[in-house]
Amino acid sequence: MNVRTLDPRLAGRTLRRIVYDEQQIAKRVRELGVEITRAYPEGDLLVLGLLKGSFIFLSDLVRQITLPLQVDFVVASSYGDGTESRGTVNLVYDPETEIGGKHILLVEDIVDSGRTLNRLMDLLAARQPRSLEVCALLHKHIATELRHPTAFVGFAAPQEFLVGYGLDHAENFRHLPYIASLQ
Ligand code: IMP
Ligand code: MG
Repeated sequence: MNVRTLDPRLAGRTLRRIVYDEQQIAKRVRELGVEITRAYPEGDLLVLGLLKGSFIFLSDLVRQITLPLQVDFVVASSYGDGTESRGTVNLVYDPETEIGGKHILLVEDIVDSGRTLNRLMDLLAARQPRSLEVCALLHKHIATELRHPTAFVGFAAPQEFLVGYGLDHAENFRHLPYIASLQ
C-alpha cells in the first residue's frame, strides 16, 4: 500500500514504513492490560500518563485493565540545549491525586535515552508511593542511562524516528492510528 498518497493526514509527508499497524497495536495493548491486571492483585493503582505523547496509548490501555484504578497526568518540561533532554526536569503539571501509599504506574510513549524517565522517577519516588513502575509503548533498548528497568513494554522500537499513536514530529502526526517511521 502506498501510504503517502492514501492517507490525507500526512499533509504530503512521506512515510518510510508502517512499523506497527492498528491491529498489532490493539492486540499488544490488550496483552499489556492482562499483564498489568495480574501484576496488581490488590488494586489501588494510579495510572499516571506522561503528556503529551502517552495520551492515546493511555486511553486505550486503561480500558484493558480490569481493576479499580485512577488516572491522572504529569507534564514534564526539560531545560537544556533544546534538542536533548538534559539538565533538570520540572513538573509543569503536577498531579492533584495523592501519590503517597499508592501503586503508581507511569505511562510513557517511548523510552529513548531514558533521561526524562530517570528524573521523573526520582521526583515521584520522593513522594513515597507504595510501588513505582513504568509502562512504555515503545522502548529503544539503548537507554544506557536508565537506572530503573521498564516493567511493561509494548514494542521494541527500531532506530528510526517514529510518529503516530501519540508520538509527534514537531507536534504533527500524533493522531495517526498506526506507528510509522518518517522518510
Ligand atoms: P529520553 O529522555 O531520551 O528517553 O526521551 C524520551 C522522549 O523523547 C519521549 O517521551 C518522546 O517524547 C521523545 N522521543 C524519543 N524518540 C522519539 C521518536 O522516535 N519519535 C517521537 N518522539 C520521540
Ligand atoms: Mg515529543
